[in-house]
Amino acid sequence: MAIEIAPRRPGPQVTTHSRDALVATAVTKHFRTDNKTRRAVDDVSLRVGRGEIYGLLGANGSGKSTLIRVFSTLLIPDAGDVRVFDRDVQADELAVKRLINRVSVEASFFKKLSAIENLVYAGRLYGVAPDEAKRKALAILRRLGVDVERVNEPLEKLSRGMQQKVAIARAFLTAPMLLLLDEPTTGLDIRSKREVQTFIRDLRIEHDATIVLTTHDLDEAERLSDRIGILHEGRLVAEGTTDELRARYGAAALEDVFMTATGKRLDEADEPERAK
Ligand SMILES: Nc1ncnc2c1ncn2[C@@H]1O[C@H](COP(=O)(O)OP(=O)(O)O)[C@@H](O)[C@H]1O
Ligand SMILES: [Mg+2]
Repeated sequence: MAIEIAPRRPGPQVTTHSRDALVATAVTKHFRTDNKTRRAVDDVSLRVGRGEIYGLLGANGSGKSTLIRVFSTLLIPDAGDVRVFDRDVQADELAVKRLINRVSVEASFFKKLSAIENLVYAGRLYGVAPDEAKRKALAILRRLGVDVERVNEPLEKLSRGMQQKVAIARAFLTAPMLLLLDEPTTGLDIRSKREVQTFIRDLRIEHDATIVLTTHDLDEAERLSDRIGILHEGRLVAEGTTDELRARYGAAALEDVFMTATGKRLDEADEPERAK
């Protein structure tokens, strides 16, 4: 069953014949705290083709969220540039904002309002009529395995998994051309994880959407991504399809590719104390 999602918001039509949805060139971003400078993203260049699912795989602190925030115009890089459907994210910020949507764990909601109230509110911001927003939101939530009996409860009463699904539903109300999913399944139980993964894959099949997602789950990267980029300490250290990566590194599994490319196992490479 195809889900119905809103027509694209009025705004710039994508007239480019470019096959690239996203082109990042030599992006670097530092953070300065307590007189120390930390290079969160270090000279990253990558291209994501239209219709592709690109998975950024990396340990906690490897720079995934920073990169996603640069792609989504929330952070200005210190060097390099990013183009989304041939538009520069800095020079053409508003146009880019209409083409993208970002879902992250710290999704901002009105926690005292219900899921459906939050979604109708978000729809209104994007010019989707309340009835339509409600209908579409319910269809998406159902597909994500959300118990629709609960959509009228205050959001703060719902589990993190449910809230994450509401965040995903919100991103799809507006049919973004480029969807940036920052750790869409982190913290979800196995079943919710699978529901979200299936939804992401189906969307790509049914709609002309391009997806960049981040994950620190090897299995998820492999399951969802057409191509994977491995981030390590802010650098893109390897990139390709799972098969290409395995062949290039003479590895039996993606886990071994990660180990060879970064010198660490993914679980060892995590730096929880520095995460966020
Ligand atoms: N707003 C910030 N201020 C200072 N340091 C930050 C900020 N955001 C991220 N960092 C640092 O940048 C590095 C990359 O972080 P992040 O992009 O969040 O990694 P990931 O999403 O892969 O876990 C980490 O060392 C993190 O502590
Ligand atoms: Mg992150």
